[in-house]
Amino acid sequence: MNMRKNIVAGNWKMNTTVPEGVQLAKDVVAKAAEVPAEVGLIVATPFTHLCAVAGVVEGTRVELSAQNCADKEKGAYTGEVSVDMIKSTGAGWTILGHSERRQYYGETDAKLVEKVKLALAAGLKVILCVGENLEEREAGKHFDVVKAQTENVLFNFTAEDMKNIVVAYEPVWAIGTGKTATAEQAEEIHACIRKVLAGKFGAQVADDTTILYGGSCKPSNARELFAQPDIDGGLIGGAALKADDFIGIALSF
Ligand code: PGA
Repeated sequence: MNMRKNIVAGNWKMNTTVPEGVQLAKDVVAKAAEVPAEVGLIVATPFTHLCAVAGVVEGTRVELSAQNCADKEKGAYTGEVSVDMIKSTGAGWTILGHSERRQYYGETDAKLVEKVKLALAAGLKVILCVGENLEEREAGKHFDVVKAQTENVLFNFTAEDMKNIVVAYEPVWAIGTGKTATAEQAEEIHACIRKVLAGKFGAQVADDTTILYGGSCKPSNARELFAQPDIDGGLIGGAALKADDFIGIALSF
């Protein structure tokens, strides 16, 4: 019997002003009661919104996440935001390794190891993103790429650490393109990630780890994706900017 939780997390990316974000969070909280209690709901807002949105979600079932953190603890790193700062807003999570950060901001697996270490040490849970780009998929390298990203980062951690880590498989070619991976394409990668985790941490840890799918997930395709044995929910971009769509996805288990 596995203990893993189904989760739907909204990655707002660089969208909404603070007032708009507060309103969106209020709308999500208002509709959250429709979703079965065992489904985890997370909103990942820009750094600037964390304090205000923390006030909205406090005492509700909706959890709060950042989208990134600094790879240094504190000090002279102008413009960076530390794990302690994130934690002090009331957020309990951070997304790390999103493909947009890997692609546009030079995030490497080595840097991600540092970030995951700092996040866990600060008491933040982590959603670690992995996924191949179109070129890699067309070259048939998708399993190798995802396996390498998973190993390069997570093999530096312990079975105990894995209790606070969720993996998100996000094929880059499916993000924001309207092109969803088919349920079969997603499932075979999720099963592969779980196998990689089992090889390192044992079957129980692998079975207990939540693995989310991300990439053009919406209410109309979530049910088929979430019905797969190794898909435990979604990391939602565009559709998370409308409370109705986000909640619609969370109702798809
Ligand atoms: P999308 O983004 O749902 O807009 O494709 C998902 C993500 O990048 O987390």
